Amino acid sequence: MRTIIHLSDLHFGRIDAAIIAPLIAQVHELKPDLVVVSGDLTQRARSAQFKQARRFLDALPQPQLVVPGNHDVPLFNIAARLLQPLRKYRRHIEADLHPVFMDEEMVVVGINTARSLTIKDGRVNDRQIEITRRQLAAVGDHMVKIIVTHHPFDLPPGPQHHSLVGKAAPAMRAFALCGADLLLAGHAHTSSAVSSAGRYNIPGYSALVVQAGTATSTRGRGEANSFNVLRIEAHRIAVHRLGWEPGENSFSLAASQSFVQRGSEWFETDDLSDGPSDGISASATHRPARTATG
Ligand SMILES: [Fe+2]
Ligand SMILES: [Fe+2]
Repeated sequence: MRTIIHLSDLHFGRIDAAIIAPLIAQVHELKPDLVVVSGDLTQRARSAQFKQARRFLDALPQPQLVVPGNHDVPLFNIAARLLQPLRKYRRHIEADLHPVFMDEEMVVVGINTARSLTIKDGRVNDRQIEITRRQLAAVGDHMVKIIVTHHPFDLPPGPQHHSLVGKAAPAMRAFALCGADLLLAGHAHTSSAVSSAGRYNIPGYSALVVQAGTATSTRGRGEANSFNVLRIEAHRIAVHRLGWEPGENSFSLAASQSFVQRGSEWFETDDLSDGPSDGISASATHRPARTATG
């Protein structure tokens, strides 16, 4: 079994400073095999904000896999935006815009969806889709295959549909060919976990699509700051959302969902009694609860 801590939308420059130290401590307690950060590390892509984000990442456990978000592209410096949109991100955070992590149980590929020519929309291009397809096709299906982007491939029904990543449909068809299991993203600042079958009609295939809320920023859009803990096994994934409780100065369990894979399709199950659900209450939670979609 593997544990991924999924953080997103840090937005250094617009953070709640009280969250930082407890968050770092709780992530360490959870002993992740990998920390994923799905973009928007800064509020305005300024050097000072990237340096703050860098210090935060340095205080978290390794290994880490990080992708940029639309807020990591300069908004007001037009020359920088068009000519070197991710120069500061690459200098301070991660030079590789297509990072890959692999161990004996899972392979995780990051894709940059931030673009210069739109303010907040994002997209994947044909080259990124093909490279990712080849990378995931090259590993056996006993491995759990995971893709990280900033802009999401799916969201529950609601007002956030404009947030979906561009070229999502052809990307999903390619992901079906290589057996991608789990898609992690952020951007909407809301948490959710859904099967892709509701949006993408690909016979015999669906992925599990998981959104993390904003871990640290004050731009919560009505949802408390949160992050996700994923317990991952072959054919079984549990998604736990830990929400910030200011009165207690800590994150606690706000929602859990469990999914199983049959064939190449992922389904939600009510069975939270064993497997990947175990262990989380001991390290970071005190108030178990469960909701349909988080
Ligand atoms: Fe964001
Ligand atoms: Fe974003």
